[in-house]
Amino acid sequence: MAKPRILIVEDEFITVQDIQASLDRMGHAVCGVAVSGEQAIQLAGELRPDVILMDVVLKGDMDGIETAGHIVSRYDIPVIYLSAYADAGTLERARIFESHGYLLKPFRDRELDANIHMAIYKAEMKRKVKEAEEVIDLNEYLRKEIARREMAESQLDDTSRQLRVLSSRLLDAQERERKRLADEIHDSIGSSLAAIKFSLEEAVVNLKRDRDVVLESMRKVIAMVQGAIEESRRISSNLRPSLIDDLGLLPTIRWLAEEFQKVYTDLAIQLRLGIEETAIAEALKIVIYRIIQESLNNAAKYSEADTVRIELTPEGERIHLLVADNGVGCDLGKLDDADRLSGMGLRSMQERAHFSGGRFDIRSVPGSGMKIMASWPAKKPAQNGSH
Ligand SMILES: Nc1ncnc2c1ncn2[C@@H]1O[C@H](COP(=O)(O)OP(=O)(O)OP(=O)(O)O)[C@@H](O)[C@H]1O
Ligand SMILES: [Mg+2]
Repeated sequence: MAKPRILIVEDEFITVQDIQASLDRMGHAVCGVAVSGEQAIQLAGELRPDVILMDVVLKGDMDGIETAGHIVSRYDIPVIYLSAYADAGTLERARIFESHGYLLKPFRDRELDANIHMAIYKAEMKRKVKEAEEVIDLNEYLRKEIARREMAESQLDDTSRQLRVLSSRLLDAQERERKRLADEIHDSIGSSLAAIKFSLEEAVVNLKRDRDVVLESMRKVIAMVQGAIEESRRISSNLRPSLIDDLGLLPTIRWLAEEFQKVYTDLAIQLRLGIEETAIAEALKIVIYRIIQESLNNAAKYSEADTVRIELTPEGERIHLLVADNGVGCDLGKLDDADRLSGMGLRSMQERAHFSGGRFDIRSVPGSGMKIMASWPAKKPAQNGSH
């Protein structure tokens, strides 16, 4: 080991000389001498000695114990106090500042030497313990980080599994919808057109014979064409209600409610549309319409309710939508698991709401109906004034 470098802090010149001589005899190196607390702190920072021998009583503002306090907290250098007194109060203060030794003057070479080696050894041990603690902290940090990543990975796995399930459901739903449309076109417009063609052929045959019969056939054909026109309107307005673009969302909701009532006469619809059409962003209108449409379909299919309440109202800076029925409700816990949720309705409502920047919530208790709630930021009113 290299010779320990020692800083002496002592304001009595004679004592400095004594200590220096003693250290020389032991083969230690004195790297500096300070005569005040301030100077000691400065030299400790500049020279970084291995050990400081500190006189307890120093002239000036700071005594040796206070000086040592600053040095230990700033530079963590071991300090051995040298003092002519050993009163209990001084010893206690010295202990508080983590002294590495306390020698009563006059002392022997062997005592000083042992104290210096012990101070260096203790300081070294303290450093190693600190390093070990840092390694333990680092290990703990790494352990937590690994756990966090594992958790994130497994969540990612879950999410991608759910996404796969969803996208396959989406494809299924798309296929089912195509089939439904194909059937509808085939059964309604297709069969109307076939009947029209048949009537026209009959009319062509009758043309030469009986004008009145032909006239009667033509009237029937006109009625059939009218029926086909209405059918095609119905199909296309189901696909994208043109009313939304032509008249706005609020009249479209009223129309949907009326149409619904015509079919489901036992289910009363209570409408509360307390919002201005202008407060609803254009892109939101179809989203709100679809959520209401699916909620009504579900209410008709499952709820056994006699009333459905539809509310579209402003609340603060937001638009709130509520569709609530007073039917049997359902156990939502059972619907949470993506594998068991066979339908796409609730899920697609939720996704439409989220993708359009809204919040979505479903509440239901078996026996007390179902509530679909969604909300979006309201459209900011157009600024009046010049630009
Ligand atoms: N208003 C309601 N009252 C009681 N149960 C409901 C209601 N709405 C939905 N449910 C329950 O939630 C389930 C999921 O509804 P969801 O709309 O997601 O699917 P679906 O209607 O079965 O199928 P899809 O909408 O894809 O045709 C339904 O099967 C039903 O059990
Ligand atoms: Mg549904």
